[in-house]
Amino acid sequence: MSAQVATKRKTAPDILARKGGEPVVALTAYSALTARLVDPHADLLLVGDSVAMVEHGLPSTLGATLDMMILHGASVLRGSATALVVVDMPVGTYEESREIAFRNAARLMSETGCGAVKLEGGAKMAETIAFLTARGIPVMAHVGLTPQSVNSFGGFRTQGREREAWGAIEADAAAVATAGAFAVVLEGVVEPLAIRMTEAIPIPTIGIGASAQCDGQILVLEDMLGLTPRVPRFVRRFGALGDAVSEAVEAYAAGVKDRSFPAAENVYQPKE
Ligand code: KIV
Repeated sequence: MSAQVATKRKTAPDILARKGGEPVVALTAYSALTARLVDPHADLLLVGDSVAMVEHGLPSTLGATLDMMILHGASVLRGSATALVVVDMPVGTYEESREIAFRNAARLMSETGCGAVKLEGGAKMAETIAFLTARGIPVMAHVGLTPQSVNSFGGFRTQGREREAWGAIEADAAAVATAGAFAVVLEGVVEPLAIRMTEAIPIPTIGIGASAQCDGQILVLEDMLGLTPRVPRFVRRFGALGDAVSEAVEAYAAGVKDRSFPAAENVYQPKE
């Protein structure tokens, strides 16, 4: 009889234990196809509500829905084996009350198989984070530039450029840590503030447009692969897949037009 070796998927406590240790590698993933490619190299896959913009062509994350997140979340779970999969709670599914947040987070967990959810907001979401974590739902928080509040910010603006704003953002990070979040995304905050928060709180900070001194980093996969047309300054393009796709499609179109495709090796013939 052959022995079966079950591959162990990372958990929220595994990520929490990385505080101050080896940096956490996190990326977004929206489908089984990309999850399969990223999973061997990442500790955490985020099914971000950025899927609404990247995959559905919407102008902001405000168009994401619970059904959309469930569809993409289940796909990412099928394509991954070892990374912790975290699914974003879309706008309107958790702010109204902690009970509604629990109901929707439970749906995300049971219908996708994900290991945690993420929600945006600091001190004002602390009670909800405590409610969810006390009931077995690991929560990753998200403070600083929170894209679901883009209309209140008046655009995607870096947070903490003025020192007077630091106190409130630091209080947000401290509040979500005290409430039981296992990690917190620090998005679009000035570097010295990101470093202060990383030093001050006992949970891993996952930076995006923050600082290399955070406990980990996250990027939108399609941004760093060079698939999206415009990216914020903090994104480094690690690939040029957009150009590669265009070249491949151009070559295919030329082959169709000059009838060099399908070639002999791409067609079937009847048996002799
Ligand atoms: O939705 C998302 O992709 C995110 C990350 C950029 C942190 O929240």
